[in-house]
This record gives sequence, C-alpha cells and structure tokens, in this order.
Amino acid sequence: TRQHRITLLPGDGIGPEILSVTVDVLKTIGKQFDIQFEFQEALIGGAAIDATGNPLPEETLTLCRNSDAVLLAAIGGYQWDSLPRHQRPETGLLGIRAGLGLFANLRPATILPQLIDASTLKREVVEGVDIMVVRELTGGIYFGQPKGIFETETGEKRGVNTMAYTDSEVDRIAKIGFETAQKRSGKLCSVDKANVLDVSQLWRDRVTLMGKNYPDVDLSHMYVDNAAMQLVRNPKQFDTIVTGNMFGDILSDAAAMLTGSIGMLPSASLGADGPGLFEPVHGSAPDIAGQNKANPLAQVLSAAMMLRYGLNEPEAASKIEQGVLAVLEKGYRTGDIMSEGMTWVGCQEMGEVLMNVLESLHQ
Ligand code: NAD
Ligand code: IPM
Ligand code: MN
Repeated sequence: TRQHRITLLPGDGIGPEILSVTVDVLKTIGKQFDIQFEFQEALIGGAAIDATGNPLPEETLTLCRNSDAVLLAAIGGYQWDSLPRHQRPETGLLGIRAGLGLFANLRPATILPQLIDASTLKREVVEGVDIMVVRELTGGIYFGQPKGIFETETGEKRGVNTMAYTDSEVDRIAKIGFETAQKRSGKLCSVDKANVLDVSQLWRDRVTLMGKNYPDVDLSHMYVDNAAMQLVRNPKQFDTIVTGNMFGDILSDAAAMLTGSIGMLPSASLGADGPGLFEPVHGSAPDIAGQNKANPLAQVLSAAMMLRYGLNEPEAASKIEQGVLAVLEKGYRTGDIMSEGMTWVGCQEMGEVLMNVLESLHQ
C-alpha cells in the first residue's frame, strides 16, 4: 500500500460540490490501485474569511506544507468583492501559490472527440486541438511592486500595479516550457508583448537564450494580442505555449472554450520542491453554486493531474482520464457541455456515473 497525504481546500461557491465528487472518485481509485489517501481539510478564500477573517490562515499553509499534494477547488464570491484587497478570497489564492513557491502552472486544453459539438467553434477548427499552456504563476503584474491605490499631489487617486520579471524568474519558467515541449511535439511558442513592454523584451531575450540549450525544440515568439486571435482562428498551430502570469490567465480561459467548457479544464501548479497544488482553471461559479449544476470534471481531472505530476501514480491518473472519456462516450452531460441527444446530469450524478464506470473498467 502506498500512502499519500492530501490537503483538501474546498473554498467557495461550487467548490465544495465538485470537491466532494472528486474525493469519492479518489477513494474508488485508491481501492483499485492499493493507494491509501489520508485527507485533511483546510479553509481558504471566502470560507476562511467568514471563519477567521483571513483568506489564508497560517494553519492552512502549514497543513499544505505538511502534505504530499494540495487539491483546491475554487474561491471567490460576490459577498466578499467589496472587502479590502488583503482580505479578499483571491488574495488567499495568490498567497498559497506564492507561499508554496508554485511558479509553474500547467493548463492543458485538449479537445475530447466526444465534446466537439459542445464547442462554440466549428468542428474542423477544434478537432485534434491539444495545447499545453505553461503559465508563470508567482511573478509578473500579479506580484510586482509597487502596487496599490495611491493619492497623487492633486488629490486624485491612482491605481498601480507593476509588471516585472527578473532573469531568473523567466529562466525557470522557460525551462519548464522547453521541457514540456520536448515531452510533447517539440514546438514551443512564447507569448509576450515585446513590441511595447520592456518586461516582455527581457522575457523574450531570456527565452531565446534558454532556447540554445534546447536545439531540438522549435521555438517561436508571438505577441499576446495576435496569440488571442490565433487561438480562435487556428488553434491547431499551437502545441506548448509559455507565457507570463496575466497573459497566461487570459489565454488559458480562451483556450478552455476551444474544448467546449471551462468546466472541463484542470491545472497543475508546481514549484522547485514541496507539494504541488492542483485546481480547475475555472472559478467558484457563484451563478450556479448550490444548485447541483456544476461540472465536476475539471476538478476530477485536476485530481488525475495530482496523481500524475504530484504523487507519481501515472496508472491511477490514466484510469481516471479513461473513466471521464467513457462517461462522455455514454452521453452523460452537465449543463455546460450539454448538446442534443445527450443525457443531462447534475454534479452529483456525474460523479456517480463516473464511479460506476470506474468499477466496471476495473473488472
Ligand atoms: P467562473 O469561472 O467562476 O465562472 C465563469 C462562468 O463559467 C460562469 O457562468 C460559471 O457558471 C461557468 N462555470 C465555471 N465553472 C463551471 C463548472 N465547473 N461547471 C459549469 N459551469 C462553470 O469565473 P467568474 O464568474 O469570472 O468568477 C467567479 C469567482 O471565482 C470570482 O470571485 C473569481 O475571483 C473567482 N475565480 C476563482 C478562481 C480559482 O479559484 N482558481 C478562478 C477564476 C475565478
Ligand atoms: C485563475 C484565477 C485567479 C488568477 C484569480 C482568482 C486570482 O483567475 O486561477 O485563473 O487570476 O490567477
Ligand atoms: Mn483565471
């Protein structure tokens, strides 16, 4: 028996619903692969604010550091949107990413054949799309100093954020980009805004320099505005994309829609050492929270990424992914991926059919 200690962070909105389905799936998988999961739950985001006044209590960070992997659902909601910045749910999420040193965020966008009709784009545009966005996660405009709302000499207010990257910050994420591309089709596109931003010029220079170590990788550069356009025009030109924090945030949501729904997209956040954090690309979806309507598959697939990248359990990860494909093949759909002739299910039911499929695949 292999043992893994997992910290669960349900967070807000649909978070608890999708995470509870995922924990059930992990328990099923654990039995099949002789893995023993020890789950411990902690507070983050709005739930933590309500309980402690702090979106990331010290205790949460400590529990996370003392585990083998962290499985996060989502944070945020309207009721916390008017709090001061340091007390907002999003600050808790940024805090845990920084606190665990998770500088590399892998966001795969793969179109599943079963979901082609759920995409808003034409079949011939999205068929075969398989992109990995490597997003820098602990630097750039999200963290640069100075930041804040300051008063000017004329008494006006001025909002400030600073987009900054150092050589070493670019180097370490570029390295992940090149290594990821090497394991895939060998094509890497670095996305920046070097025509305007100095920080992007430095980014481009360092990525180019790093490229000398990877002669087998076909490196290209693209401006972010063009990249957004190319992602919807002809997404199949992309394999691995490496980019900064904010550009990666935006482009990964755009890439999500190629696959039919943001409710399908998992991610892995990794650092140099210590536990990784695994979370869906989507947010807490307050508009559908508590209604059993959420698609739990992005969360379930994030657990698969946890098994693969965080716990070295690749077979168990593949099994979950196979199970998801099989459930879609059988025609089960939550509202976000529903199309004609398919069977509508809620969040909970999606979990149940998935577990049945996993049991039957096991026999
Ligand atoms: P969102 O991703 O929560 O929702 C965008 C749209 O997608 C909504 O219509 C929602 O219903 C739908 N959607 C998202 N996930 C879904 C799922 N699993 N199944 C079905 N439909 C789904 O983004 P938003 O509305 O811009 O943000 C809501 C809150 O979430 C905000 O407070 C934001 O800060 C936060 N947020 C958190 C994370 C995170 O925790 N990693 C990520 C993004 C946004
Ligand atoms: C994401 C989210 C977060 C981000 C927010 C909620 C802080 O949009 O994980 O994509 O911008 O990184
Ligand atoms: Mn986002």
